Order: sequence, then C-alpha cells, then structure tokens
Amino acid sequence: MKTPVTVLGLGAMGTALARTFLAAGHPTTVWNRTPGRSPELDDLGVARARTAGDAITSSPLVVVCLLDDASVRSTVEPVAPELARRTLVNLTNGTPEQARRTADWAAQQGAQYPDGGIMAVPAMIGGPASFILYSGSVETFEQHRDDLAVLGRPTYAGSDPGLAALQDLALLSAMYGMFGGVAHALAMVSSEKLSPTAFTDVLLVPWLTAMLGSVTRMAKDLEYGAAPGQAGSNLAMQAGAFGNFIDASEAQGVDPLLLRPIRSLLDRAIVEGHGDEGLAVLVRLLAKN
Ligand SMILES: NC(=O)c1ccc[n+]([C@@H]2O[C@H](COP(=O)([O-])OP(=O)(O)OC[C@H]3O[C@@H](n4cnc5c(N)ncnc54)[C@H](OP(=O)(O)O)[C@@H]3O)[C@@H](O)[C@H]2O)c1
Repeated sequence: MKTPVTVLGLGAMGTALARTFLAAGHPTTVWNRTPGRSPELDDLGVARARTAGDAITSSPLVVVCLLDDASVRSTVEPVAPELARRTLVNLTNGTPEQARRTADWAAQQGAQYPDGGIMAVPAMIGGPASFILYSGSVETFEQHRDDLAVLGRPTYAGSDPGLAALQDLALLSAMYGMFGGVAHALAMVSSEKLSPTAFTDVLLVPWLTAMLGSVTRMAKDLEYGAAPGQAGSNLAMQAGAFGNFIDASEAQGVDPLLLRPIRSLLDRAIVEGHGDEGLAVLVRLLAKN
C-alpha cells in the first residue's frame, strides 16, 4: 500500500498536492481552516479530518502548505504532541530563518522536518516541469523521496534546513526580475500601440531565450573568475546604452522606476573601475559581505 499522506491546507496549491497524491494512489487525509474547500476532492476519495490534530494522526507523512509561516505555526503548535515520530514536510513559502526555527521546533517535538520550496504553479504539480527543493536530514529525504516524487522532481538542497528556502527565494527573485523587465518592455511597446502579443511571440521570447546563455556566463565568471578585458559586452558599453532605455522610456511616457536601480548599480561598477569587466561584477557589488 502507498504511504498514507495528510495535507494541511486546501488553497490552490494544497488542493493540487492533495489531488496529485490521490491520483497516485496515496490514502489522503486533508484539513483546511475553512471546512468544505475543494469539494472536487471528495469524488477522488479524500478523507476530511475535523481538526488539524485528527489530520496529523491519520498519516506518518504530513505535508503542510498554508499561506505563510505564521499560519503554519498557529496551525501546528497547538497540536505539537501529535507530530511525534511523524514527518512534517513544510511546503509553505518562507525564509531560511523561519525554516531553521521550525526545524528546531519540530526536532523538540520528535518530528522529522524537511523544509521545502515548490518550484511550480498548481497546474504544474505532478507534471514533468515541476520540481520541489527539500532541505534537512538527507535520511528523511531519502525515506520519503518516492512518496514526494509524485508532486514533482524531488531535489535535495542540503542538510541546513534553510537551504531550500534560500534557493527557492533566489529562483523567485530571478523570476520577478524577468517579470519586471517584461512589464517595462511591454509598457514601452504599448506606448506606440504595437501589439503586445506579436512583440512577445516574435521578438521578446526568442530574445530572452537567447540571453539565457549570458546567465550561464555570469555564473561561470563568478565561480571561476573572468579573464580581464575579455568581456564581449563590457559594463562601460552597457552603462552607455542604459541611459537610452531611461531617456526613451520617459519620452514615451513610461515610468523607468524598475530600470533606475540597475542603472545605479552599473554606474557604481564603472566608478569603482570595473568598466572593462562583465555582468558577474554586479553580483559582487550586491553581496554585502
Ligand atoms: N499558488 C502558487 O502558484 C504557488 C507556487 C509555489 C508556492 N506556493 C506557496 O504555497 C503556499 C500556499 O499557496 P496557495 O496558492 O495555496 O495560497 P491560497 O490559495 O491563498 O491558500 C491559502 C491557504 O492558507 C490557509 N490559511 C491562510 N491563513 C491561515 C491561518 N491563519 N491559519 C490556517 N490556515 C490559513 C487558507 O485557508 P482558508 O481556506 O481557511 O482561507 C488556505 O488553505 C504559499 O506559501 C505559497 O507561497 C504557491
């Protein structure tokens, strides 16, 4: 028999997790603060627990996916004794510090605690592009790897419980950087009534796809060092062009507020003598220690 699983939280993501466990044949118990959420799960054979404590005692593997750290703590702390000898997998978005604190707390309750970061939207759960970061004890990760694999590729992030959250937030930061840049680009082309979809399909997506090579280059230069003067697109050139993005945006009636911080960083790189280097320099300028 497949491992019985409990899912605490039936928001958009918790519902997708529960549906996927059920589809994979795991006996699945759910609890949600507001009862009766996601009625479609009933036809799939879900068991609904009246309380969070009842839900936890139904399964050795408990997955919690609530809004935030505060909602997780207010849900599990009152039922702490029920967690002893179980595995609590926290797939709620949070910070590394929150993950480490909850890991310490879970250890005091006698529970195993992988902290996780879901790199997928609900519709992707159970599909080939979904992956989930886990940190904490590698033995616990291995013990539940097959159970968790139904949700998305299980990816071990390290024994420090904070490392899944750290990498999750880093990945989301990169994503929001892209979304911010895309929002600015679409505002620029919309200022001339160009078609956003034509611009996106014909130009933007191929351009961003081609630029992924520069992302890899940045990481390599950061890790191994770049030969001085070898940057094909040096920062002095980039800083020179960047002023045009801002001037053109203002002339088109587009607020360049998302571009200005990047301009400041480029200017600082030039002032500090890195004009002939590449983008990896920006990473070093951002790091405070
Ligand atoms: N959706 C995504 O694309 C996505 C992707 C990756 C990661 N995540 C992460 O997954 C987590 C859940 O996201 P979601 O999309 O499922 O959010 P959601 O649809 O807004 O659902 C929020 C869930 O949290 C519960 N909740 C909120 N406050 C609570 C409290 N004080 N006590 C107990 N339960 C509480 C809600 O219960 P009620 O029904 O009672 O309100 C609901 O079950 C978040 O941390 C999110 O960052 C989401």
